[in-house]
Amino acid sequence: MSAILRLENINYGYIDGGYRREILKNLSYDFEEGTFYTILGPSGSGKTTLLSIMAGLDKQESGKIYFEGEDVDQIGLYKYRRNKVGVVFQSYNLITYLNGLENVLLAMTETDNPLPKNKEEIAYALLNMVGIVNTKADRMVNKLSGGEQQRIAIARAIAGNEDLIFADEPTGNLDTETEKEIIKLFQMLAETYGKTIIVVTHSNEVSKLSDRRVLLKNGVLTDI
Ligand SMILES: Nc1ncnc2c1ncn2[C@@H]1O[C@H](COP(=O)(O)OP(=O)(O)OP(=O)(O)O)[C@@H](O)[C@H]1O
Ligand SMILES: [Mg+2]
Repeated sequence: MSAILRLENINYGYIDGGYRREILKNLSYDFEEGTFYTILGPSGSGKTTLLSIMAGLDKQESGKIYFEGEDVDQIGLYKYRRNKVGVVFQSYNLITYLNGLENVLLAMTETDNPLPKNKEEIAYALLNMVGIVNTKADRMVNKLSGGEQQRIAIARAIAGNEDLIFADEPTGNLDTETEKEIIKLFQMLAETYGKTIIVVTHSNEVSKLSDRRVLLKNGVLTDI
């Protein structure tokens, strides 16, 4: 099976106090379709940096990223972000003056992917799927708990029908029960819908439930 996402000799560093610190060092890795991955690694190892680069929110200094065999530079970063990837941020990044439904509907307008006509129905269905009932979907998101906002962020990330979903510590603020449900959801998205899910986590519990565990350390990814 060919990789949905191929990283080839990725390099990235920051200038810090006049010194350059390498974060990603000739990093190469293949992510397969329909698989739920977790990325573990020490704090400061560069997980968020790597996720930003893979999601097209930041650009590697050198090296190539291929999506379904096509160079992401050829696809164009804007198109790649818009049509190929969904992201769940640790801080949710929901639009707080909209309700949950509107947040999901907005994501549907921000893609060129084919979507069904009955967007509202689908948005409610997605929200129901992540455990947000319609009355909660109609509530302003700042009137919802952290766990509920996180669920909406997940519904939003999948609303554009993208094949690649990234999440940075998506269960960091959740209790273990909610965490389990979110993990089940990721498993289901990979198994049933063939999505590739790449989750950064500190949680060994989360990681144990993923299909593939990957460690980011010393600038490279290795299977564990
Ligand atoms: N804009 C920046 N300028 C300089 N250094 C940065 C910048 N962003 C991140 N760093 C540094 O790069 C390193 C990697 O950061 P990153 O946020 O990717 O780590 P992480 O693995 O996600 O850590 P955590 O597990 O704590 O979230 C850290 O040492 C961080 O301080
Ligand atoms: Mg981080």
